[in-house]
Amino acid sequence: MSIRIIVKDPDPVLREVAKEVTKFNSNLKKLLKDMAETMYDAEGVGLAAPQIGISKRVIVVDVGDENGLVEMVNPVILEREGEQIGPEGCLSIPNLNGEVLRADRIVVQGQNSDGETFKLEAKGYFARAFQHEIDHLNGVLFTDIALNTYDISDRVKKGGEQ
Ligand code: CO
Repeated sequence: MSIRIIVKDPDPVLREVAKEVTKFNSNLKKLLKDMAETMYDAEGVGLAAPQIGISKRVIVVDVGDENGLVEMVNPVILEREGEQIGPEGCLSIPNLNGEVLRADRIVVQGQNSDGETFKLEAKGYFARAFQHEIDHLNGVLFTDIALNTYDISDRVKKGGEQ
């Protein structure tokens, strides 16, 4: 395993539509391990492969609750319900936070590292993290859709970036 370098806005890879994964091999397993290690090292709650310069539809999420680490390949949101507005940050956009409107509950389907399809329901902050990461796969950053943004460089870092 190794910690990868997190690319920062305005790196063009963050604006690409990431490619579907078709090969479920040892390279994918290593990518997922490295992504989780990089996310934890940066004290983030989610990471998408484009954030380490790899334009593939792969995300990891761990918001620190009972759901633990979720690795998802080719994620698709099947259902959206309700609304929530809350603060977000991004490991690729240091020192900026913003309030973002998201669905409050989603059902997301994807594949694991072996290519097996699974589905999960996410609510609240967990649902927010998935929506943020899946946006990354479509070249969308939270600053594109935030209701506002504010500088947090003068504050103590709390984590919570995605
Ligand atoms: Co992000």
